Amino acid sequence: VAAHFADMSYAPAPESDAEARAWLAGHGATFGHFIDGAFTEPAALFDTFEPATGAPLAKLSGGSVEAVDRAVAAARAAAAGWAGLKGHQRARHLYALSRSIQRHARLFAVLEAIDNGKPLRETRDLDVPLAARHLLHHAGWAQLQESVFDGYRPVGVVGQIIPWNFPLLMLAWKVAPALALGNTVVLKPAEYTSLTALLFAELAAKAGLPKGVLNIVTGDGTTGRHLVDHQGVDKIAFTGSTAVGRDIRERTAGSGKALTLELGGKSPFVVLGDADLDGAVEGVVDAIWFNQGQVCCAGSRLLVAESIAEAFKARLLRRMQTLRLGPPLDKTVDMGAIVDPVQLERITTLVETGADGAPVHHAGVTLPEGGSWYPPTLITEVSPAAPVATDEIFGPVAVMMTFRTPQEAVQLANHTRYGLSASVWSETIGEALAVAAQLHAGVVWVNGTNLFDAAVGFGGKKESGFGREGGKEGCYAYLTPIAWDGPVREALTPPAGSAEGVDLSPIDRTAKLYIGGKQARPDGNYSRTVVNPQGVAIGEVGEGNRKDIRNAVAAARAATGWAAATTHNRAQILYYIAENLSVRADEFAHRLTAMTGASDDAAGAEVESAIQFLFTHAAFADKWDGAVHSPPLRGLAL
Ligand code: NAI
Repeated sequence: VAAHFADMSYAPAPESDAEARAWLAGHGATFGHFIDGAFTEPAALFDTFEPATGAPLAKLSGGSVEAVDRAVAAARAAAAGWAGLKGHQRARHLYALSRSIQRHARLFAVLEAIDNGKPLRETRDLDVPLAARHLLHHAGWAQLQESVFDGYRPVGVVGQIIPWNFPLLMLAWKVAPALALGNTVVLKPAEYTSLTALLFAELAAKAGLPKGVLNIVTGDGTTGRHLVDHQGVDKIAFTGSTAVGRDIRERTAGSGKALTLELGGKSPFVVLGDADLDGAVEGVVDAIWFNQGQVCCAGSRLLVAESIAEAFKARLLRRMQTLRLGPPLDKTVDMGAIVDPVQLERITTLVETGADGAPVHHAGVTLPEGGSWYPPTLITEVSPAAPVATDEIFGPVAVMMTFRTPQEAVQLANHTRYGLSASVWSETIGEALAVAAQLHAGVVWVNGTNLFDAAVGFGGKKESGFGREGGKEGCYAYLTPIAWDGPVREALTPPAGSAEGVDLSPIDRTAKLYIGGKQARPDGNYSRTVVNPQGVAIGEVGEGNRKDIRNAVAAARAATGWAAATTHNRAQILYYIAENLSVRADEFAHRLTAMTGASDDAAGAEVESAIQFLFTHAAFADKWDGAVHSPPLRGLAL
């Protein structure tokens, strides 16, 4: 059978690249940044290549500190005007952007395929329509902003850094919610794949997007760092590798910048003993050979019930042989080229050094001449500790291991530092859901994989990052609660020993820790002195050690009743806390003044805004309606 398929030949059906080449030629194949509604003079040029042939495609500008500075300044200058538009006015702009993608769908699809190396079939049927859909969907949120997101304002100027695996789609995921909700943007595309971002910006300007609202700065990681470090940026949204995500988190820590990270994954693909094997095999094709496996949520770890493992492997190896690899613009092709020689080298090295002796099966395809190519690959009998099983390969390589019981499948599936996605395959829906519910992942698919929609939040847990993109929940990543701007409390009487029955004499007792619903003496019996700004001791608090932290985490972990409580019940408790805080507001304000030296007014306002925050979130708890799309609960928040 394998030979039969291998012999089967198809006539190539290439899509014309004339329009895309003409667009490139129209720019002399040389691009500046897109700042304040226009291209800048090209400078500090570097080459971008065609992955399928290795030929140079265009010259791009490297983003210096000055370039980033200009872009941020343009975004800042446009911020008030953009945020000041009514939601329905911004919605019209987003509709126009979406329509512009639709009208130029072929140009985008071809340019993306040439620039990234992925097959046209995917850019045409997935990347481009989904990008348009994201803009359209978020036009809806803009339209509803005043009613749905009352009490929130835009974050401000947002720096967005995106990877090369879905260049236009990731742009849409980032830009659509940001712009819809009134933010202005400086986006840095990946250095290998910047062209569709530049085309999008050019068309956006033609579609009437006010200048400065969307700025594109090209360049590599150094440019990304300039953007992350820029003082004028209010939020960073990043998609890419975990290592860079960590670097960004460290660099933004303490800066006051908001942050969302969508990082790597090593997602389990769990095939239970009663799965429809042919369906699951097709699932693997979509999970790991789609986009050459360069997908953050790729189902790259196949966990297969022992009882069916041999049959599954045989079918998978046979199916693998039938995949067509070739020029991205050929519409009969299943797999295209790897984005860059650097990525090809990473894949090759990890497979060569990280399989720990497990058998590596490459599909017997002929790799095209030139360019960066890697065949569909399956590694079987993999040990869960082998690097190919633990590390993100980010290429068309699946690893397979077996399990005996669903419980073992869950353990293997969760045995990873990542938590982006998972899929479960079974003909018994109850069985599938029982396993799915135990998987630690942001998204779990049942009898399907890599399914996306703009209305569904997407994002990770653990080292796969945090924050959601898409849906209502994703909107909150681009909003910030409006600070309390109601009347400030009456000036408080200065703390003079005792006010209104509040004892403010020097606190002579040590405040204990609060763990598991009661006060707890610190394990080490140590305390630390709290001093006021003048250095005068005003009290003692318990000093928690490792054991106290462990107890506290265990108590939080054990409090499963909280998640199980109804949203209404949680809302009531939050209201109750808010009410109690309001009754004792003066006391809290005095304590703040004593600890920090803040003025009475400032301390009073602080307490008021805390109360307000609790009330607002009590209301959210009551109104939570995102559960349909994604679980509202993220486990322990630290
Ligand atoms: P990367 O994480 O280095 O690049 C992603 C983006 O971040 C690019 O725009 C890049 O220019 C920028 N960047 C790089 N260093 C930066 C820094 N220090 N500060 C700010 N921005 C920075 O991804 P790379 O090197 O292209 O791929 C490496 C590995 O990352 C891949 O093999 C894969 O495992 C993983 N990856 C995961 C992706 C995902 O969607 N989760 C996407 C791309 C890569």
